[in-house]
Amino acid sequence: MTGRFITLEGGDGAGKTTQAELLTAWLEAHGRTVVRTREPGGTDLGLRIREIVLHDRGHVSPRAEALLYAADRAHHIETVVRPAVARGDVVLQDRYIDSSVAYQGVARGLGAEAIRGMSDWAADGLVPDATVLLDLDVTVGRARVAAARGDTFDRLESEAAAFHETVRQAFLDMASAEPERFLTVDASAAQDDVQAAIRAGLAPVVGIAP
Ligand code: TYD
Repeated sequence: MTGRFITLEGGDGAGKTTQAELLTAWLEAHGRTVVRTREPGGTDLGLRIREIVLHDRGHVSPRAEALLYAADRAHHIETVVRPAVARGDVVLQDRYIDSSVAYQGVARGLGAEAIRGMSDWAADGLVPDATVLLDLDVTVGRARVAAARGDTFDRLESEAAAFHETVRQAFLDMASAEPERFLTVDASAAQDDVQAAIRAGLAPVVGIAP
């Protein structure tokens, strides 16, 4: 079996975790070995970086922030993702380079091309076989996060609504620029309908009938 690298992107509260769990069940039912992982924080080193980048109370300069995500990624891709894909597993990953482009490149204003170039270098050029974009109205997403966690936002989540609107638009622009890699799904639909759309879109990528 050929390994696959599939990423999930979208704003906070779009349902990436729930949808990845449902997707894992489907893939495993079809005999695939699935590695669920995320950035930042998919390794022990990454968990320490995640703590700094999301929960440090002090100011983290935008370039430092971008480099911390890239450091997490470099280690994670080399030690977790590439070995799993080489074994023939399906890697299902919450967030990847597109998040860096949307948050640091566009919303923080560091430049989409600069951040993509730097991130590609960190990941040594690994491109996902498919990227699922769970697209959701920012207000709805934030209300879901607040309801689930009682209003405790991390450093990135605490940014103003306009920041998150910019992030959303940046993801949509990337999806239109690379339609062969992106599968954009309306995340406001019922959970099962969202999952059905994802399975239908990914079926050819993973070689399973939908
Ligand atoms: P996430 O894993 O969704 O956090 P949680 O599930 O605990 O809410 O994402 C962490 C945050 O990091 C999210 O706000 C987006 C941000 N992020 C970036 O800004 N750049 C990146 O490259 C990545 C991977 C995430």
